[in-house]
Amino acid sequence: MTNRRYIIGGNWKMFKTPAEAASAAKALKVKLINVENVDVVVCPPAVDIVPVVEMLKESTVRVSGQNMHWEDDGAFTGEISAGMLKDAGCDYVVLGHSERRHVFGETNTEVNKKVLKALARGLKPIFCVGEKLEEREAGKTESVVGAQVREGLAGVSVESADDLVIAYEPVWAIGTGVTATPEHAEDVHRYIRELLADVFSPGLASRLRIQYGGSVKPSNAESLLSRENIDGALVGGASLDPDSFTEIVKAAENLST
Ligand code: PGA
Repeated sequence: MTNRRYIIGGNWKMFKTPAEAASAAKALKVKLINVENVDVVVCPPAVDIVPVVEMLKESTVRVSGQNMHWEDDGAFTGEISAGMLKDAGCDYVVLGHSERRHVFGETNTEVNKKVLKALARGLKPIFCVGEKLEEREAGKTESVVGAQVREGLAGVSVESADDLVIAYEPVWAIGTGVTATPEHAEDVHRYIRELLADVFSPGLASRLRIQYGGSVKPSNAESLLSRENIDGALVGGASLDPDSFTEIVKAAENLST
């Protein structure tokens, strides 16, 4: 990390009722009150967004959706739109998370439609990419991640791309307790930055933040975040506990000062 601000996200996945989410948000508001030089984002389930936003008023912690549909509205039972997330108080939305891709079958083309709509509606996409174990073992990490980046970001203008956050989350490291080594993560992050330079421009690529995700915890946060091309973390399991999430944010803060 050079002079970029770290961005630490907490992906709560399908955990926490509205009451539990509000209580976690309240704890984070207090614990992170003095954190100024790190961007912190929590990603609660959709029904928790309104109470979490309410609780985080007057806090620097921002709120993100976990997914959205690419249409503005319509007969899409079970879906939510970018406009709804924005109006509920979200600044960000996670798009293309591996659980969406591999459990719910989202394609690069669908993720791309979502990225374009999010940007058009003023939401910052946390755009996730990452290879599966068999792809990694077959030496296909770069081709899989390359296609996800190129197809997922097709048609994004250089002007709007400043709002993007990229999350590299190797599927084999998510929720497994197996973390990518800082070396592996750094290699893929560097590759993604080169791709972004090609897709957009070298200047923009150097500004865009690339988070690492996959079993990030307080004990490994510093070794990952201290790598040159790792600009933040997207944290699942360890974000559910406000104490361990705070420790990860503090690791980023310590590296920033
Ligand atoms: P994990 O999840 O930290 O539990 O591995 C990360 C993610 O899916 O964003």
